[in-house]
Amino acid sequence: MIVVTSVNGRVGIEAAVEILRAGGTALDAVEAATRLVEDNPDDHTVGYGGYPNLLGQVELDASIMDGRTLQAGAVGALQGFRNPISVARRVMTDLPHVLLVGEGAARFAREIGLQEENLLTPTAEEVYRQGLSNQLPTDKQDWLQDGIQSNLARLTNLAADPEHAAGTVNFIAQDRDGNIACAVSTSGWAWKYPGRLGDSPIIGAGNYADNRYGACGCTGWGELAIRCGTARSVVLYQRLGWGLETACYQAMHDLVVAAPDPANAMMSLIAINREGRPVGMTTVPDKTYVWMTPDLQEPVEEPRLHVELQKVAERGKE
Ligand code: GLY
Repeated sequence: MIVVTSVNGRVGIEAAVEILRAGGTALDAVEAATRLVEDNPDDHTVGYGGYPNLLGQVELDASIMDGRTLQAGAVGALQGFRNPISVARRVMTDLPHVLLVGEGAARFAREIGLQEENLLTPTAEEVYRQGLSNQLPTDKQDWLQDGIQSNLARLTNLAADPEHAAGTVNFIAQDRDGNIACAVSTSGWAWKYPGRLGDSPIIGAGNYADNRYGACGCTGWGELAIRCGTARSVVLYQRLGWGLETACYQAMHDLVVAAPDPANAMMSLIAINREGRPVGMTTVPDKTYVWMTPDLQEPVEEPRLHVELQKVAERGKE
């Protein structure tokens, strides 16, 4: 039994391990842990308090996958509900679908009785206004007032602010029956174009779990993971017989072709193999991830293996 998470999942990992200790399922563990991160107003990359899109609306994406059955549920661009992971789980269990987006996802959340609320906290709103203003040249500041509606596409390029892009939480758990589940949740790229989905709600891109081989969750520039099918690649490479680290390195190396500037491509992943052994990997130096087993009193924070995509790109040209 094990729970593995990105470092911002620390607030939820002990609750997840407690569920496993008590004989609960991997699905229950990853959902409960993700909810705690979504409820945390100090995490501006996930759930309540997440940074908004260009119009100042908090739009949330999440997915959950059951490695026993390959069932999955996901929501994208969901407004007004702080726990998209629970909506995603109900999509998986209650509907013949995998992914609901926008108003359809909100309608479903209302229908299952979830409480609607404003997710934009005063802190996130202040950073949003300041962030946009800082990105704009002085002669374009009026775009933030009357002009914003007709300048969204141009603002999206200006607002590609790496400080606020691409935070996400990942949880992978394996329970006492050997079942694996993976949950991913995010408010996505801050100041994104309204309706933009990243990799988090896309099964195979930011989330994949299969009891027979392992699981993977991604954080980073979702567009890259979508184009390369990163989470599924990690699992598929293990299916081909490769070891966990080799599978993760290969999935990271695959990003080189899609990354316009490999030196600055941001991608991190956590993964386990079918025996429940964890690894964390990243293109950004000095990043960590966290894991915990039921026999431990507290979580272990470990360095992620570092992949220098620029060097991989240079080697490819030799
Ligand atoms: N990885 C989160 C996102 O790109 O939205």
